[in-house]
Amino acid sequence: MAVLFLLDVQVTLLSVLLLCWAGGCAGIPDPRLRDLLIQQEASRQTGGAVLLTDTEQRLSAQLHELKLQEIARPEFPPAMHFFKARALIQRSPIFSLLQKMPKGAALHVHSSSMVGVDWLVKNVTYRPHCYICFTAARSVRFLFSAQQPRTQPHCSPWLLLETLRSKMNTTDLDNSLIQNLTLFTGDPETAYPSQDSVWSKFEETFNVASGLVSHAPVFKDYFYQGLQQFYTDNVMYLELRAALSQTYELDGSTHDRAWSLKAYQDVARKFVTEQPDFLGARIIFSVHRGLNSSEVRVAVEEAMRLQKEFPEVMAGFDLVGREDSGRPLWYFREALSLPSERGVTLPYFFHAGETDWEDTDVNENLLDALLFNTTRIGHGFALARHPLAKDLSRKRGVAVEVCPISNQVLKLVSDLRNHPAAVLMSEGHPLVVSSDDPATFGATGLSHDFYEAFVGIGGMNAHLGTLKELAINSIRYSSLSPQLKDKALTLWQRKWDKFISENSQ
Ligand SMILES: *[C@@H]1O[C@H](CO)[C@@H](O)[C@H](O)[C@H]1NC(C)=O
Ligand SMILES: *[C@@H]1O[C@H](CO)[C@@H](O)[C@H](O)[C@H]1NC(C)=O
Ligand SMILES: *[C@@H]1O[C@H](CO)[C@@H](O)[C@H](O)[C@H]1NC(C)=O
Ligand SMILES: *[C@@H]1O[C@H](CO)[C@@H](O)[C@H](O)[C@H]1NC(C)=O
Ligand SMILES: *[C@@H]1O[C@H](CO)[C@@H](O)[C@H](O)[C@H]1NC(C)=O
Ligand SMILES: [Zn+2]
Repeated sequence: MAVLFLLDVQVTLLSVLLLCWAGGCAGIPDPRLRDLLIQQEASRQTGGAVLLTDTEQRLSAQLHELKLQEIARPEFPPAMHFFKARALIQRSPIFSLLQKMPKGAALHVHSSSMVGVDWLVKNVTYRPHCYICFTAARSVRFLFSAQQPRTQPHCSPWLLLETLRSKMNTTDLDNSLIQNLTLFTGDPETAYPSQDSVWSKFEETFNVASGLVSHAPVFKDYFYQGLQQFYTDNVMYLELRAALSQTYELDGSTHDRAWSLKAYQDVARKFVTEQPDFLGARIIFSVHRGLNSSEVRVAVEEAMRLQKEFPEVMAGFDLVGREDSGRPLWYFREALSLPSERGVTLPYFFHAGETDWEDTDVNENLLDALLFNTTRIGHGFALARHPLAKDLSRKRGVAVEVCPISNQVLKLVSDLRNHPAAVLMSEGHPLVVSSDDPATFGATGLSHDFYEAFVGIGGMNAHLGTLKELAINSIRYSSLSPQLKDKALTLWQRKWDKFISENSQ
């Protein structure tokens, strides 16, 4: 009855509105009509239709209050560069709540940036047989080796790190190594004046880390440590983009991609045995979009084999690297059509529209990703400017993976209130929040990105229902089977109810 009555009032008010537009009534518009319009608009946003319990509504009101305090302060973190805002964010009571909140799944994270770089330096580089060399560009490379390794082109002779440490101030050395592995700095505007400069340092950090993380024993420990860090941040499942590059042993022997995939599977299973409220991880095999068409063809063929051999852990395929300078999806059309031609299922999870240019090949990546039946869209930063791609993504339930800090650090947007996902969020477009390369950006798990999405992108409109829908979306739009999604949702709901009862006042 109540619902019918409400509908009735709405219909009446809407007809009043139409009459007024036709010039039928003068003076101040009907405030009931105004309320109704505000309410209807708010109901369209992400979480706008989520029904909150009384306890949830109390927590939502608390969050609202905390947001008002946050915007009343002279420095508003989402308007600042994350490197300058991080300390402020970490002191924010909203951030503490977001850390405790069960966030569901992290669906857009790159495998070699999951673990805080401190751990790489303080733990991994202290292991025996770790060698270092110095490049002309004041960067470094690492290698584990039983014997003195052969000098590589463009790098100094290898030095045993242990020997170097005994001769140097260890604190200074370790700090400089940390600097080599992350973009984080106190003065980002000076350090990275352009997209080119930030991308070049960004890709360099992966070159620095590769000698460490591709050492076979470290590879497994690193992944375990990564799962631990996300689990501690109240994330229950991950989908990782991974290159599955060769890993190596101390004697220089190497392992292939199947070894890496098997290692991911074994470590994830071990972790789940130890933490039964964690659901594990799946891998999106990703190669660099700088490769040429024949190389990507080989990669797609391998992806199909791996998918068949490791259906539990292998989720699908993606192309990574900077879109503006890499090759567009359409260039790879023959390789990407192989699975459908052969009647094989290889789900795609394309990065697309990670750009602020218009009318370039890169922009077509969004439509092409959809043409190739992508399961989700990585970033989709340009989606709001592509009405057709946006419609298709919405109708087909192809969620956009929004990574706010990544977009800001890589200089697509400076004030996160202006992030284009604000439009998508206000329309309730299918989206999830993720952290892309948290270690490289100095973030942890998902909480920093949730803070930016909730306080900056969502603004005052975002409420507890928004957070709830974002968390549920991360399970709904994951690559898990329907049975595992049900299991994940049940588990998540239990954690959520506990979070609400412990934090609502
Ligand atoms: C190393 O350098 C730091 C300053 O960077 C200094 O505080 C510390 O005392 C030095 N340690 C040693 C053992 O000299
Ligand atoms: C990288 O580490 C080396 C060796 O400690 C150091 O000389 C160099 O300044 C570091 N580079 C950066 C960008 O921090
Ligand atoms: C490094 O991490 C491993 C686990 O990955 C742990 O067993 C070991 O104790 C750590 N070592 C140090 C020096 O922290
Ligand atoms: C791709 O690159 C490889 C070498 O890296 C080369 O042998 C091959 O001919 C190239 N293919 C095309 C289509 O350019
Ligand atoms: C995409 O899906 C449509 C409809 O299921 C199918 O007809 C088409 O072949 C698929 N395209 C590719 C490239 O997989
Ligand atoms: Zn990415």
